[in-house]
Amino acid sequence: MEWLFLFGLGAGVAALLLYALSVVLVLPKTRGAMFVGTSRRRIRAVLEALELSPTARVVDLGCGDGRFLRAVWRRFGVRALGYEINPLAWFLARGLNFLFRIPAEVRFGDFWEADLSDYDLIFCYLFPDLMSALSEKISREARPGTLVVSANFPLPGLKPQRVLQVGEPIYFYRL
Ligand SMILES: C[S@@+](CC[C@H](N)C(=O)[O-])C[C@H]1O[C@@H](n2cnc3c(N)ncnc32)[C@H](O)[C@@H]1O
Repeated sequence: MEWLFLFGLGAGVAALLLYALSVVLVLPKTRGAMFVGTSRRRIRAVLEALELSPTARVVDLGCGDGRFLRAVWRRFGVRALGYEINPLAWFLARGLNFLFRIPAEVRFGDFWEADLSDYDLIFCYLFPDLMSALSEKISREARPGTLVVSANFPLPGLKPQRVLQVGEPIYFYRL
């Protein structure tokens, strides 16, 4: 029994170290937007506020373990795309999509290099330090009519159409 406890403890410590390493490795790029997931309750609230056709183009900028992509598929049958730069998060997102047979796409890479001109919905849950630059990128690239949903942090310079309060605020913008 003792060895089982020691094994569990070792696995837990190894998982924590792996998580910490993956976060630190990409810190210069993520600048504080760490690998933390949006809660199920908040994702449900976002999806309840949306209407999407199965052909909608949806992107999650920094998709973490891909939970938003899976939720969008389950609710609307939309094959969303996620960008993720943290290798552990990317691996988990790919693995979980495979396990649950979710046909969403998860790209390993930096969303700052992505072209945002062709999306119906842009979702993000990032960090205050990034929001001004993201607001500029979205205003420059996204087409009129695009819906932008930002969990927790507002996009400076853009006026939200709606703000949902589910724990923290969730901002909805129509460009
Ligand atoms: C707070 S988490 C949100 C995860 C997911 N969107 C969710 O709501 O559950 C932010 C994620 O963005 C990723 N990220 C931050 N900057 C990035 C960048 N420049 N390119 C790709 N991913 C990035 C981080 O690695 C992290 O997994």
